Amino acid sequence: MRWIDVEEFVLEQIKQRLENASAANPAEVYRQFREAYEPLKDFEKNISYDLPLTGEAYALKYHLQRMDNMKVALNRVHNVRPLLASDRNFVLDIGSGTGASAMGFMRWLNSTCDVQQKQVKVTLCEPSEHMRIVSEQLVPAFKEKLGLGPNSQFSIYPRNLEECAQKCEREDSPFLDLAIFCYTFWIQRRDEWPSTTKHVLEIAKAVKPNGTLVFLTPKSNAAKPSYQKVLFMQHLKRELVNAGFNHLEIDSPSGYHPGQSTCVQRRPDYDAKWPKPVCDLISQMLQSPPLEGNDRPYYSFSATIDAFSPKDGE
Ligand SMILES: C[S@@+](CC[C@H](N)C(=O)[O-])C[C@H]1O[C@@H](n2cnc3c(N)ncnc32)[C@H](O)[C@@H]1O
Repeated sequence: MRWIDVEEFVLEQIKQRLENASAANPAEVYRQFREAYEPLKDFEKNISYDLPLTGEAYALKYHLQRMDNMKVALNRVHNVRPLLASDRNFVLDIGSGTGASAMGFMRWLNSTCDVQQKQVKVTLCEPSEHMRIVSEQLVPAFKEKLGLGPNSQFSIYPRNLEECAQKCEREDSPFLDLAIFCYTFWIQRRDEWPSTTKHVLEIAKAVKPNGTLVFLTPKSNAAKPSYQKVLFMQHLKRELVNAGFNHLEIDSPSGYHPGQSTCVQRRPDYDAKWPKPVCDLISQMLQSPPLEGNDRPYYSFSATIDAFSPKDGE
């Protein structure tokens, strides 16, 4: 599927949701959208995912970039260590949000594996109802659009990191082929680090010897509050290495390189009669032309990729 079709698909789905929501009271939906979008503008703060329309606002602002970045990241990791090496593969996507990481995974799967042969069961875990309901619409519809058959299954649960860790602990033996943490970590107080680390280590223990953990964390400036997420990831890296995991050398693409690839000519249309913040957001999102390329981000690559494998799986 071409990237332009992915953009059109996501925009159309969100447009439908906003139109359905605004049928009875457009002014109220406009107000709720603005309220939900406002905190998303500042990723330097801890965002609340608990407002109505947070999922729609997040999907318009970040979903396509995250999807794109996830596919590129999985390509990069797969080149270093083949992913989904088992016959039946189990994947956990923790903090799955509106489904962007899972949809990036689907595109990667579709372009890399024989989806008719490979069995893949993906569990998306998302505690925020407002994010989850958007993923409940986007993920199955995208799966159908991509033509992924019954061998690829996606389930979405209202679980948080702690519950995922508890579920992993209850398993008798490692069962996970891939654990994805795509911008999952929030800005935590230092006294919360040990419990978050403990839960991640419990999930890591459930990773099979040939399995992999993949983390995307924001690139960030040391002067900004979000740098705490980078510091937390550095801490987690030390803890995972101490617990016997290999940190894989993965090269993160360095941002956006116009001129190195061909721009696609057409961009999706959007309806200018939508409320202004929605139009502004869409036009802002579509400002930078996406780039065609195999392993190049269409959007700027805003993450650092960290990947780990169990040591005995070398
Ligand atoms: C920045 S969003 C990333 C969403 C998605 N992975 C993506 O890349 O677009 C972070 C997500 O993590 C979720 N989250 C927050 N606290 C969490 C926790 N304790 N356990 C699991 N997910 C959590 C939020 O609800 C939110 O949807």
